[in-house]
Amino acid sequence: MSIDLRAVRRAFGSYRGAPVGARAFVAARYVVAPMGPIAAEFEGLTGTVLSLGSGLSMLERYVAELEPNLRFEGVDLDPVKVELIARTHHLSPRVSLRQGDATQLDGLTGGRLYDAVLVCDAMHHFPADVHADVVRSVAEVVRPGGVVIIKDLDRGPAWKYHWNRIHDRIVAGPEPIHCRPPAEMASLMEKHGMEVERADRIDGPLTPYAHYVIRARKPA
Ligand SMILES: C[S@@+](CC[C@H](N)C(=O)[O-])C[C@H]1O[C@@H](n2cnc3c(N)ncnc32)[C@H](O)[C@@H]1O
Repeated sequence: MSIDLRAVRRAFGSYRGAPVGARAFVAARYVVAPMGPIAAEFEGLTGTVLSLGSGLSMLERYVAELEPNLRFEGVDLDPVKVELIARTHHLSPRVSLRQGDATQLDGLTGGRLYDAVLVCDAMHHFPADVHADVVRSVAEVVRPGGVVIIKDLDRGPAWKYHWNRIHDRIVAGPEPIHCRPPAEMASLMEKHGMEVERADRIDGPLTPYAHYVIRARKPA
């Protein structure tokens, strides 16, 4: 799917009134993130998507512009992002964000089932030894027949890994990152009962980020 620039413009407009730094960050993210391939995974989906580590929710606000039957409920650790999304919520009312630890989902969802779960560029910020637990709880909170989409960054080639490492140091701070190759992530999802429909690199040879996407479905 190619990028719908009018939808990007509308989504970007939903940050009206946000601090200049946050708007610049969102604009940069719209340039760098593989919006087209990720949005394609949501084509025709309906219902509510739980989005873990959704941060400033730029992807969610973009997809919400394209898919009128989807709403996104995000969870993020960062109270500043939660406040910003709350303040601009009226400009993108089908995208919300609350504060919480996505690695401790069990107490967060209150037994509710979601139509889909998205984890976009957050998994590598979670410690490697909780990845299996996060995948297990994601598999539990998605309804039978629902989909889980994980967009993350591969560990290789080395130059892309180091590029992303530097990026994350500047943007997120000195904490280590924990990139897990797509085949490993896919096998974690299978181990927890999901049927993996795709697990593909979606970067070009010269794209400096080792983007990949996995789509898996919980058996109906
Ligand atoms: C690289 S950003 C990705 C944000 C967004 N998904 C995107 O694609 O633009 C990673 C996000 O994960 C959040 N995060 C890190 N650890 C988290 C945790 N344990 N629970 C919830 N959010 C977390 C950070 O606050 C940050 O907003």
